[in-house]
Amino acid sequence: MAASAPGKLILFGEHAVVFGEPALSTAIGLRAEVYARPHKEWLADGASLDEPRYRYVKACVRKTKVEGPLWIEIRSMVPSGAGLGSSAAVSVATLGALHGSTGPLDPRTIAREAFEVEHEVQGRASPIDTSTASAGGGILVLQEPQDGLLWSIERDSRRWFLHRTALPPLDFVIGNTGISAATGPLVAKVKERVDRDPRAADAVREIGVITLDGLRALQRKDLVAAGGLMDRDHALLTRLGVGHSALDRLVEAARPSSYGAKLTGAGGGGSMVALTDRPEPTAAAIRAAGGKAFIVRSDPVGVATLG
Ligand code: MEV
Repeated sequence: MAASAPGKLILFGEHAVVFGEPALSTAIGLRAEVYARPHKEWLADGASLDEPRYRYVKACVRKTKVEGPLWIEIRSMVPSGAGLGSSAAVSVATLGALHGSTGPLDPRTIAREAFEVEHEVQGRASPIDTSTASAGGGILVLQEPQDGLLWSIERDSRRWFLHRTALPPLDFVIGNTGISAATGPLVAKVKERVDRDPRAADAVREIGVITLDGLRALQRKDLVAAGGLMDRDHALLTRLGVGHSALDRLVEAARPSSYGAKLTGAGGGGSMVALTDRPEPTAAAIRAAGGKAFIVRSDPVGVATLG
């Protein structure tokens, strides 16, 4: 039993999506692979499933009620704590491997289960990371169903409608600060700020508007407009308290050779993304500013069995 799932890049709408605002993401060609084989005891990479770093894997095992024991082996190209959806990719690939023995994979079921796993382990969350890892390609999260609906996911009083969206082939350059930041505490910090500061609540709403404007700009290939909206989104996310001086440094370094740049994912460190048609100079500028840079494209493939 083996499956893989992609990491993701949020182009617009992180954090605001947790409050029900729209968000736009794409799967990227950095994937996690998970293998599961019968064994005499439960192990992950040869270690106990009780180790904190395997809490997502352990929650997936509980969720599927799969018979064991199994040796689960994880190979991930997605750096963890980097805002690129590593926990979602590992959870989705794990669920894929665990379900793989019973028939073809159903990305909708896996997206729902992976969201529940993420919620259990990380706390407050939206389904954007887990649904992008399950479905692959471009994903648009909306408050209402529209054409291209893949599935909806509910939690407490919130409901998210996940849509397939076509994005033109674009090069994005990711700059990783190397500062690993856990998503859960950042999401909690934004909630606390929004509850006490009306300016933060306004920022969340403006990010929602930017997301839809950004999607339209990307679809009509108006990269100047899309880049300007990314710059504004970065400023709003910083106002929400999830910026970092290292992110600002990489964003500033990338901007002269790109249309725009912003933090991506949970922030607080992690990564930024630049929209550019000159990826090499942008990557070089990010490296010169101390970041790890890589060029990515959208990956159309979601969760998939291996072998
Ligand atoms: C993290 O990749 C995206 C956040 O919006 C959290 C979430 O949606 O669960 C920050």
